[in-house]
Amino acid sequence: MSKNLSELSGRKGLDQILFNKLGEISAKSGTPDQADMKKLAEEYLMGNANIYGAASFYDFTREENKGKKIYICNGSACLCAGTQDTLKDKLEEQFKPEEIGEMCCLGRCHENSAFHYNGLNYSGNAIDHLKAGSIAPDTNEDSYHTGNIGTPVVNMPFEDMDVIKDTIAKALFSTREALIEELKISGLRGRGGAGFPIAFKLESCKNTPGDKKFVVCNADEGDPGAYSDRYIMEKKPYTLLVGMIAAGYAIGADAGVVYIRREYPESAHIIIKAVQVLEDAGLLGNNILGSGFNFMFKVVTAQGAYICGEETALLSSIEGQRAEVRTRPPFPTQLGLFNKPTVVNNVETLANILFILQKGGAAYAAIGKGKSTGTKLISLDSHFNKPGVYEADMGVPLREVIDKLGGGFKEPIKALHIGGPLGGLVPAQKIDDLTVDFESFSQNGFLLGHASVICIPQEFPLIKYLEHLFQFSAHESCGKCFPCRLGTQRGYELMHKAIHSDFKVERDLFTDLLDTLERGSLCALGGGLPLPVKNALQYFDDELKQYFN
Ligand SMILES: Cc1cc2nc3c(=O)[nH]c(=O)nc-3n(C[C@H](O)[C@H](O)[C@H](O)COP(=O)(O)O)c2cc1C
Ligand code: SF4
Repeated sequence: MSKNLSELSGRKGLDQILFNKLGEISAKSGTPDQADMKKLAEEYLMGNANIYGAASFYDFTREENKGKKIYICNGSACLCAGTQDTLKDKLEEQFKPEEIGEMCCLGRCHENSAFHYNGLNYSGNAIDHLKAGSIAPDTNEDSYHTGNIGTPVVNMPFEDMDVIKDTIAKALFSTREALIEELKISGLRGRGGAGFPIAFKLESCKNTPGDKKFVVCNADEGDPGAYSDRYIMEKKPYTLLVGMIAAGYAIGADAGVVYIRREYPESAHIIIKAVQVLEDAGLLGNNILGSGFNFMFKVVTAQGAYICGEETALLSSIEGQRAEVRTRPPFPTQLGLFNKPTVVNNVETLANILFILQKGGAAYAAIGKGKSTGTKLISLDSHFNKPGVYEADMGVPLREVIDKLGGGFKEPIKALHIGGPLGGLVPAQKIDDLTVDFESFSQNGFLLGHASVICIPQEFPLIKYLEHLFQFSAHESCGKCFPCRLGTQRGYELMHKAIHSDFKVERDLFTDLLDTLERGSLCALGGGLPLPVKNALQYFDDELKQYFN
C-alpha cells in the first residue's frame, strides 16, 4: 500500500470517495472507459496506472465485466444444491452467453437458484417470472426462518424511535472510558472470524493521537453460505447503526463508514434509508442531543472482491486503491483509513453493542460459555428443513442448532462446511462433539468463523468441493504474496486434473503445497485454506485416496 496514495485519496474527504467515483464511471457499460479514468487520475492527483490498477482489480469494474447484464451466483451453497446448471440453461434462453456474468455469493443460500439482475437479487423460483428481460420487482423479496435458542441479543426488539433516542443518549452522556470499560466487562469478541476483543481495539484507537478518526463497519460478508450480516442490515439496521455511533463516540470519531458488498443491493438500500431516518430525527450530525458529539455515516458500495473482507484490504478499497492486504504493524487503529486511526469491526460485533448499552456488560458476560460470551448468529443453508438465520447462546450444542432450529437435514449429509471457505470441514460424525463457541471449534480442529453452515450432501463428490475451494481462493487471492497467488492456482489445477483425467496427485507434494500456503501466506486467505483441505484428507480418505498416490 502507498501512504501517499492514501493521503491523496483522503484529500477530498468522505463526501467524494474515489472508490465510489470508480463505481459510478463503471456503471453504464460495466467497466470504466480510458477517458473517464484519466479524468479521475487528474482530479485525485494520481497516476493513470493507479486508477487503471484499481479498476482492473474488482470483478465489477474490470474489463471482463463489460456488457454483462445478469449475474448467476457461483457460491458454495448453490453449488452443493446443484441448482445453477438449470438456472443457467434458463437464462441462456433470454440472454447471450457473453451477457451472463457470475457473482459470489448472493446470500440466498436458503433457497438457491440465485441470480442478480438490474441491481436486485432473486432466488428460488424467481427465474420462472423473468420474461423477455422483465421481472416484477417484488419477486426479489425473500423469506427465511429466524429464531433463537437462549437470549435474544441481536434479536432484541429495537425499532421504536424513542428507545433508539434514549439508547443513543445513554451512550453519549457516559464517558468514553466508562463505555469501553463496559465493553471490556462484556467480553464481546469480534464476530467477523478472528474473535478479537472489541474493547481493546477501541481503547487502542482512542489512545492514538489524531485530529480525525473513523469507525468502519465491515459489511463485506463474503463467506459463501453466510447471510447473517445481511439479516442484520435488512432486518435490524438500527441495532447496527446505534452500535456504530457508540463505537465512534468511544474512540472520538466523527464519521462511520459502512462498506457493503455489491452483492447485497437490498442491504445498502435499507441502511441508506435508516441513516436518513436517524438524521431526520436529529440523531446524527453536529452536537447530537446536545452532547457536543458530531457523527455522520457514509455508505460505500463495494465492487466484488472477497479479499475486501480482510480489514486492511477493505481500507485500501475505500481509498480507491487495489484491495491488497497491508502488512501489520502498523495496525488500522494506528494508521487506518486515509492514514487516520481507524477501527474496523464486523456488522454482528457492532450490533451486539446495543444489548451492552441497554443491559450492561455483566448481563452480556452472563450469556455464553467461558471466553465466548454472548450469542452467535448462524446461517443455515437450504439442506435444512428450516433454513434461515438463527441466534444461539454461545456454548449451545451444535446438534441442538441443527435439530431444534434447523429442523434437521432434508437429505443425508456427509459434512458441514462451517465458517466460510477458510473454515473447517466438519464430518457428520463429529457434530455431537461440538458446541457453538470459538474454543470448542478450535480444540476440535475446526473454526467457528462467522458460523455459516453449508451442507455437503452424501452424493456430492468431495474432490469437486476441494476443486471449488481452490478455484475460489485463486480467483480471490489479492496477489500480494506468492505462496497464495501461485499456490491456490496450483492447487486448483491439481484437483481439476485429478477429476478430469487419470492423473494422480503426488501426496507429498500436495502436503508441501498446503504447508507453504499455511506458513508462508501474509493473510488468512492463503493461510486458512489448508484447514478444510486437511480436514477432508483426514476424515474422507476412503473417498479421496483414489485421486492421490
Ligand atoms: C480473507 C479474509 C476475508 C475476511 N472477510 C471478512 C468479512 O467478510 N467480514 C468481516 O467482518 N470480517 C472478515 N474478515 C476478518 C477481518 O479481517 C477483520 O478481522 C474483522 O473485520 C474485524 O472485525 P471483528 O473484530 O468485529 O470481527 C476476513 C479476513 C480475511 C483474512
Ligand atoms: S494470502 Fe493471498 S489474499 Fe492474503 S495477502 Fe497473500 S496473496 Fe493476498
